[in-house]
Amino acid sequence: MKGLILSGGAGTRLRPITHTSAKQLVPVANKPILFYGIEDMVEAGITEIGIITGETGAEIRAAVGDGSRWGAEVTYIPQEQPLGLAHCVLIAREFLGDDDFVMYLGDNLLRQGITEFVERFESDRRASFSPTLVGPASAPSAQILLARVPDPQRFGVAELGPDGEVVRLVEKPVEPPSDLALVGVYLFDPSIHEAVAAIAPSPRGELEITDAIQWLIDHGHRVRHEVLEGWWKDTGKLQPLLEGNRLILETLDLDLRGRVDDRSLIDGRVVIEEGAEIVNSTVRGPAIIGERTRVVDSYIGPFTSVYFDCEIVGSEIEHSVVLEQSRIVGIARIADSLIGKQVEVRRSETRPRATRLMVGDHSVVDLA
Ligand code: G1P
Repeated sequence: MKGLILSGGAGTRLRPITHTSAKQLVPVANKPILFYGIEDMVEAGITEIGIITGETGAEIRAAVGDGSRWGAEVTYIPQEQPLGLAHCVLIAREFLGDDDFVMYLGDNLLRQGITEFVERFESDRRASFSPTLVGPASAPSAQILLARVPDPQRFGVAELGPDGEVVRLVEKPVEPPSDLALVGVYLFDPSIHEAVAAIAPSPRGELEITDAIQWLIDHGHRVRHEVLEGWWKDTGKLQPLLEGNRLILETLDLDLRGRVDDRSLIDGRVVIEEGAEIVNSTVRGPAIIGERTRVVDSYIGPFTSVYFDCEIVGSEIEHSVVLEQSRIVGIARIADSLIGKQVEVRRSETRPRATRLMVGDHSVVDLA
């Protein structure tokens, strides 16, 4: 079994962060989202991994390297234009060969990993394999993961038939046939190659994987599905990203590797990474403070991740993600925020008192 991680895409819903960086590299609990997907694959025993990259390919390569850090072997497959998830399968044909593979959307985060999901596909295939059989009793050609969501319009949606099998899949339906959204983890056998070659672009101009799976169903292939029990986040937008950050932070244990002075209070599950310094401050977990970050005279509240080489001085921040090398000085209080790299948020004494901004395109500033 091989792995295919999709890490192209423009990330328009996370602008301005994605004007300069890949959405899959935004850190959640101080680890790029993409790395969780790689780790899930390796844990499931998949080490031959292809990564589809787009405009941000150079940055993805620099961050992931050759995969040896995870004991994996990574092959990069550039996609010239974001022409859809099924298009990614099309251009990965040579890498995938005739192997089964798991396809994982690089901005999806899920709690339970994929090991058992992969195992159940493989054992079902072994149990029902017969070279001549097609139809309901045959070996599954694909396996999808579904999750109940309150806003199915935003996703691919599955409709189940009377016997509980998937009969129809629709991408971003205005009137969803169910609340079962397609999670961004799929398993395929080589029949998917015929499907992606047969379908036409959707109204949004993309080759949809949803349509390719529908093609499999329409041509007598069995598509197995499971309904997800743990949580799952499509982190391409601010709110789900903050929720993903919160959920991952909740799984961390207390780990103080940096320096905490005796005027500081560490409360609950807090990770202070190597070289970080907490001075006269309170850090209330779950929270993580990155390498070489300094927190001085401040309060870091629950569900906050501050990445490396930051400085938080005389400020209060909670339920937020701060990217590397940013400075927050004299601000009470920041909440529900995503702060980019090398950002400076400060309070000045300059007269006249005013809010002075230099914010990038598509930024959102929500003043108290
Ligand atoms: C894609 C898929 C959609 C799926 C979703 C999961 O949507 O097209 O079927 O439900 O990922 O994250 P996109 O995020 O590209 O809009």
